[in-house]
Amino acid sequence: MQYRRVGTSGLQLSALSFGAWVTFGKQVGRAQARDMLALAHERGVNYFDNAETYNNGVAEQVMGDVLADLRFPRDSYCVSSKVFFGAVDNPLPTQRGLSRKHVMEACHQALQRLRVDYLDLYFCHRPDPETPVAETVAAMDTLIRQGKVLYWGTSEWPAEAIEEAHHVALENGFYAPIVEQPQYNLLHRERVEVEYAPLYEKYGMGTTIWSPLCSGLLSGKYDKGIPADSRLAQPGYEWLRKGVLGEGDAHLGKVRALQPIADELGTSLAQLAIAWCLLNPHVSTVMLGASKREQLAQNLDALDLLPRLDASIARRMQQAVAG
Ligand SMILES: NC(=O)c1ccc[n+]([C@@H]2O[C@H](COP(=O)([O-])OP(=O)(O)OC[C@H]3O[C@@H](n4cnc5c(N)ncnc54)[C@H](OP(=O)(O)O)[C@@H]3O)[C@@H](O)[C@H]2O)c1
Repeated sequence: MQYRRVGTSGLQLSALSFGAWVTFGKQVGRAQARDMLALAHERGVNYFDNAETYNNGVAEQVMGDVLADLRFPRDSYCVSSKVFFGAVDNPLPTQRGLSRKHVMEACHQALQRLRVDYLDLYFCHRPDPETPVAETVAAMDTLIRQGKVLYWGTSEWPAEAIEEAHHVALENGFYAPIVEQPQYNLLHRERVEVEYAPLYEKYGMGTTIWSPLCSGLLSGKYDKGIPADSRLAQPGYEWLRKGVLGEGDAHLGKVRALQPIADELGTSLAQLAIAWCLLNPHVSTVMLGASKREQLAQNLDALDLLPRLDASIARRMQQAVAG
């Protein structure tokens, strides 16, 4: 495994990490989750991602039970949660958002579900237009001073809102966000590469990036339709289809155009797409998702491909999906 510093902080995360969205508590039960977390930890993964909203808290319960069962030393891994969407259907105003009230309560609930004393990373899952940024920054600062959170970050915040959070932190002596959690893959590059570009140097921020396979699309699995056991066939995730497959399924052609490059390198499309994300030095960790052990095992091998990827191959890949 390779470890990368999260921006200019002292925290080092494994270049590949593992998250629970859609899968834990839905496609993946405790036995399978145990198998995958054990495999990941054995392969050097030191970061597991979760959120209050993933299957309404059940994903955190599954991860917490399994981590307790596996008895990894607590100082050998990091775990994160995220606050914003709430952990119930139709949340009340106090059960969602980034008010001090919900940020504190959601943290306490995540600690209980994950069965840990502190969260290594705690993310504001989206910006909250109904709460002043200063209130949220102050709440995160409180949690850090209480020892319940070690580092905090944002997820899919506009760059200006992240800048505002840094200004509030600087003016008040509060802990500032060290990390952003954005989507990043061959089909979604703009935010990480352009919008956030000034933030890395100015504030020393890192990124824990999500959906490196664009919800599985970049593995090529949707080329001949939607497999019955795949993410796009999961009840409740119909809304994902258009974004993933593109208007008129246009993204399928882009994925096909990558196949010759994968063949040339003797690798799978999934490994190629994951390794491409790691070429960006501002990516602190690529968060993998998997509904099956074999997927995780294959994806973890993407690191072996990295030394063979260079700027010219990356350019060819980018051109292939641009066409
Ligand atoms: N902050 C945020 O807003 C946010 C949003 C989304 C995700 N995340 C985090 O980022 C993590 C990773 O995101 P993601 O799950 O969307 O990652 P992803 O790699 O884009 O998609 C993972 C899914 O693709 C399929 N897959 C993975 N490897 C495969 C392979 N080798 N061959 C075929 N299919 C494969 C599996 O789904 P099926 O087998 O079901 O098809 C798997 O669950 C999440 O778990 C979560 O922790 C954060």
